[in-house]
Amino acid sequence: MKSLVVANWKMNPQTFREAKQLFEATRRAAESVRSVSLVVAPPALYLRELKRAYKGRKISLAAQNAHAAGSGAYTGELSLTQVQDAGASYVLIGHAERRAAGEGNDDVRKKVAAALSTRLAPILCVGEATRSPRGEHFLYVAEQLQAGFADVLPGKANRVIVAYEPVWAIGTQKSMTPADMHEMAIFIRKTVQGKGHNGLAIKILYGGSIDERNAHDMIERGDVNGLLVGRASTEAKKFADLLEALHES
Ligand code: 13P
Repeated sequence: MKSLVVANWKMNPQTFREAKQLFEATRRAAESVRSVSLVVAPPALYLRELKRAYKGRKISLAAQNAHAAGSGAYTGELSLTQVQDAGASYVLIGHAERRAAGEGNDDVRKKVAAALSTRLAPILCVGEATRSPRGEHFLYVAEQLQAGFADVLPGKANRVIVAYEPVWAIGTQKSMTPADMHEMAIFIRKTVQGKGHNGLAIKILYGGSIDERNAHDMIERGDVNGLLVGRASTEAKKFADLLEALHES
């Protein structure tokens, strides 16, 4: 089974010229890594031109966000249809940085359902801010999953990819251990199963301080189908090393 690696560039790089260079370096690094399917999530502004210039099939594109409404008076927003039309095949929904900016479970619920009515594959991001010895973080993640899947029709759940990104591991040096991820992956599958879907069919990604040193181990032992990578995906050399590390798996 191929691993799915999603490169979330966040609000980088600052010019389209640099974006093209980073994409080109990423493309070169990805081409030989047969065990990986790659998705690049650039700022939406760059989607159409990157899509136009890229002739291969190895890399797909994702939007980092989109609005649940089909169209209308939403200044500054982009619709799911617009990002799909610009070239995206995936859309991140409920990333921790968007939740920190005010996006709630209810917005996430609407966005996941709306994405499923397009051809986009939603990547539903969940994850707790802190862990407690009593395991309250499991309840927190369960609530996020329940909201995310609330309006998903039974036959469509396996189009939803769950990205588990604990907030405490994003942008730090502190990645989660594969053993803890394995435990969380079981919990995610059980929770999705409890909503009447096939939990075993759900693809799960891990994100949070993944780089060339820990990527391989997480794929091997974390019970995940792939990775959601922030910082390391915006440094061409680091990302090439990361992909190379997965090549060996
Ligand atoms: P980092 O890889 O920089 O920790 O970011 C993770 C993330 O938020 C990816 O979506």
